[in-house]
Amino acid sequence: METLVERIVLIGFMGTGKSAVGKLLAEKLNWQFFDTDTEIVKRTGREIKEIFEKEGEAFFRKLEAEVVQSVNAYKGAVIATGGGTAVSVPEFIKTPGTLVVYLQTSFSRLCERLRGDTSRPLFRDVDMASQLYLTREPRYSELADINIDETDLNLEEVTAKLYEIVREKI
Ligand code: S3P
Repeated sequence: METLVERIVLIGFMGTGKSAVGKLLAEKLNWQFFDTDTEIVKRTGREIKEIFEKEGEAFFRKLEAEVVQSVNAYKGAVIATGGGTAVSVPEFIKTPGTLVVYLQTSFSRLCERLRGDTSRPLFRDVDMASQLYLTREPRYSELADINIDETDLNLEEVTAKLYEIVREKI
């Protein structure tokens, strides 16, 4: 028998809309919503960019691992992760009762969306971000139970598509 879905974790690269879609989906399902980056900001009182600059990426990844473990214990929750979470701590994401959804978008579309964004330390250099995208893509796909190609969809369309898929599983 298939395990019932108790929570949905959204994974994918920076700019795929994990937080926006997660929030909309949680509203539709009447579930709680968590965003791992927001939880880190709440716990530390610091912006992600500042944590990267002052403490370094390794320190940020430790916080991220702690946060994802604690929110992944909730039932009836939609969780938006940071773009690196699925790669650094996949074992804390794929847990019993968790449906992992990969929001996939082409790199060029992500560049359009994130043009001028200064809040993401790992998207400042486009060549570096492109390399990261190539190495992460297969890892996201491998971890996900569901893969949604949202390149040509807006946030509402992605949410509606996802809602149709998950409502039969919960
Ligand atoms: C990161 C993605 C960011 C944030 C941090 C690191 C990454 O989240 O967690 O800047 O490693 O891809 P978003 O995916 O919400 O931009």
